[in-house]
Amino acid sequence: MENEKHKLVVIVGSVREGRFGPVVASWVAEQAAAHGGFEVEVVDLAEIDVPLSLPAVSPKYAGDDYPRPAGMESLTSALEAADAFIVVTPEYNHSYPASLKAAIDWHFTQWTAKPVAFVSYGGAAGGRHAVLHLENVLTELHAVTVRDGLAFPNYFTAWQDGRPLDPEAAGYAKTLLEQLSWWAAALHTARQTAPYPA
Ligand SMILES: Cc1cc2nc3c(=O)[nH]c(=O)nc-3n(C[C@H](O)[C@H](O)[C@H](O)COP(=O)(O)O)c2cc1C
Repeated sequence: MENEKHKLVVIVGSVREGRFGPVVASWVAEQAAAHGGFEVEVVDLAEIDVPLSLPAVSPKYAGDDYPRPAGMESLTSALEAADAFIVVTPEYNHSYPASLKAAIDWHFTQWTAKPVAFVSYGGAAGGRHAVLHLENVLTELHAVTVRDGLAFPNYFTAWQDGRPLDPEAAGYAKTLLEQLSWWAAALHTARQTAPYPA
């Protein structure tokens, strides 16, 4: 798998009317494509049917028979096929949006033994509160969270024409993508070598 591209899913976490999320996700996807090590797919939760009401059992135990809505199929198959994730999240009341929590909770094994990096945006904290909560939650699913993330404080003045004004942003993205790529390769090999003992 050394020269093979890893499948990277960039998740747009906000579904709010007038949201900024797609602007950030589009730039992130562009950086990931330029990195060269990934086959990039953007999954926008606003285009997926993600009900808040869950089936009786946890997806952890139900396997492929888990009764998901038909409108969730594209999300499930993208998560299933992914070698790595970048979650693009805003901060809502010092956490991440309910849309993202619902999308996470409808799945389990699709996250297991795979790396997740974060790109956040918001007010003064740049979405860091949201990322701290996501790291905690995704660890429960046996995902591996990547240390270096990108946070855009006061994004409303920090972006112009779909790009961050900070000239260092692309460099930070490259570091994040390098770490994610390393984990994607390592965990892809590990998953193929032996089932993860979850
Ligand atoms: C319900 C709600 C709660 C918010 N709470 C916070 C917050 O705690 N911290 C913060 O920095 N920004 C907060 N914001 C501002 C958001 O970061 C900002 O509106 C951002 O654009 C939201 O992302 P979106 O446009 O992709 O939905 C909040 C926004 C909403 C709608």
